[in-house]
Amino acid sequence: MAFNDAFLEELRAKNEISEVIGSYVNLKRAGRLYKGLCPFHGEKTPSFTVYPDTQSFYCFGCGAGGDVVTFIRKAENLDYIEAVKLLADRSGVRMPDSGYDDSMLKRRNRIYEINKEAAHFFFRQLTDEQNRHALQYYFNRGYTFDTIKHFGLGYAPDSWDALKKHLNELHYSNEELYAANLLKKSAKGGYYDNFRGRVMIPIIDIRGRVVGFGGRVMDDSKPKYINTSDTLAYKKTHQIFAMNFAKNHCKDAIILCEGYMDVIALHQAGFENAVASCGTALTPEQVRTIAKYTDTVILSQDADEAGRKAVDKSIALFGEVGIKVKVLNVQGAKDPDEYIQKFGADRFKALLEGAETDTEYKLLLAKQKYDLTSPAQLADYVGEAARILSELSPVKRDIYASEIAEQTKVSKQAILSESKRFAGKAARTKRREMNRSAMQMQDDKDKINPEKRRHKAAALAEEHIIAVLMNHPDCIRTVSANLTEEDFVTAFNRHIFAVITRRIREGKSLNLSAVAQELSEEELGTLAGLEAMGKSLGNPQRELLECITTLKEEKLKLVQPDLAHMSDEEFRKLFEN
Ligand code: UTP
Ligand code: MN
Repeated sequence: MAFNDAFLEELRAKNEISEVIGSYVNLKRAGRLYKGLCPFHGEKTPSFTVYPDTQSFYCFGCGAGGDVVTFIRKAENLDYIEAVKLLADRSGVRMPDSGYDDSMLKRRNRIYEINKEAAHFFFRQLTDEQNRHALQYYFNRGYTFDTIKHFGLGYAPDSWDALKKHLNELHYSNEELYAANLLKKSAKGGYYDNFRGRVMIPIIDIRGRVVGFGGRVMDDSKPKYINTSDTLAYKKTHQIFAMNFAKNHCKDAIILCEGYMDVIALHQAGFENAVASCGTALTPEQVRTIAKYTDTVILSQDADEAGRKAVDKSIALFGEVGIKVKVLNVQGAKDPDEYIQKFGADRFKALLEGAETDTEYKLLLAKQKYDLTSPAQLADYVGEAARILSELSPVKRDIYASEIAEQTKVSKQAILSESKRFAGKAARTKRREMNRSAMQMQDDKDKINPEKRRHKAAALAEEHIIAVLMNHPDCIRTVSANLTEEDFVTAFNRHIFAVITRRIREGKSLNLSAVAQELSEEELGTLAGLEAMGKSLGNPQRELLECITTLKEEKLKLVQPDLAHMSDEEFRKLFEN
């Protein structure tokens, strides 16, 4: 699947890395570099670095690194060729005609096609006179025909093979339909329709492709929904329902609901910035997608215990990426869909406008737990409120403390000092946690090159040698005269070394996009880090010679036979050699 260097060079030139990454990550210039919060692991201080000089990125926190293609692969969850295609499309570079293996891409595109055909089929079934009851189901829920068309809603007839037959006629094989999760396989190996007798909701990705379906029963039977499970074309933990519509209406805020039906009802009522996760709890990937489009989220989860738990978790997840969170106080209905049915769009609008900040929401929940006429419970409430305030800035803490003091007749001073105590405690816990997570991260990074732990000195010398070569390929002469890959102690670095020295000798480019095709993701990440490190070396030639000496000494220690425990015979042989 090799692209030639000239093509990759053009792709790189037309996709300036800081610009591409800048549309995903908030980058701040720091001299010749850019820094930001790493999109690949949760962090609060930026260790994610972009190097315009070498068109590369590296995260000192999690070790992710590489070129612009690697970044797109990871950020969009694509394979190598797809990422190249996306960048080519984005920048108007023509893809080479052939010579690369795109079978995976083709299989995935077939699934998109199949899904689209299936969506058409379900829609036609819905408007078929004999399935009048399904259309009626939607009408009973208050959906108009326009809404049905807008979302492409449909109906899967109550049959074991209606969809299968239809798609077979269009020359899609059962294996392909199975790969799209539209068919299931019986124990005997026969295929049958996965969705039967359900109203169907297509899940459409940001680029407008049908990636999967949710299917709902029309009565109270279980399971209420069946969803497409993960396929080559669909990863439900990454997908956000209705983001394809909402992305154009969410500059001010996004409304996050729990269910498909909530979203559909909200859009119909004019709130086109509503989205939902697809049948799973909110994930960090979904949070990052949302963060690309807006900086405020209004949580509109169901008004039950599960919904409240979901709100707590969502507040924490959005907090990590610096998104402002507000919480809707939906009362008198179990979810936004029912609320709009009962009270209308205007009341919902008022609800949105009155949405509480996450702090107000937390304080309200706390207050509801206690009977404030009992002194003991009042004290508990104030304690809990002080803990909530401890997470805030001093100014906000002061404002809310005044309010609580007024409510409870406890002195503001007492509330503030209590909350300072909590803040101190939390800071200590956080420091401990950060130390622990730094250690964990180091552990994870060590796992990338598992031999490094045992052969620290050798591995560091190897890394320095690679770092020098990446920045000063002309040092290859010194290297060739003194060192071969056999001198390397760790297999991981040996492979990187072998690849780059071979490329230098063949006169090939060392930029990461070109090298990427020969290295694993971990190797490339490491190489990006080493390339960055190599920039700051004072005297590369001297550094190189020192490292070569160290490496050889370390290697010798490993292969040197244990003289003290050698037989006379062995010793004589060694000596002769
Ligand atoms: P709800 O039970 O709140 O459903 O589940 P809903 O969307 O409000 O549907 P109605 O109004 O009862 O028709 C919320 C979301 O959880 C997922 C679906 O994504 C649903 O939209 N879910 C729920 C499932 O995936 N499977 C289920 O069996 C139930
Ligand atoms: Mn509902």
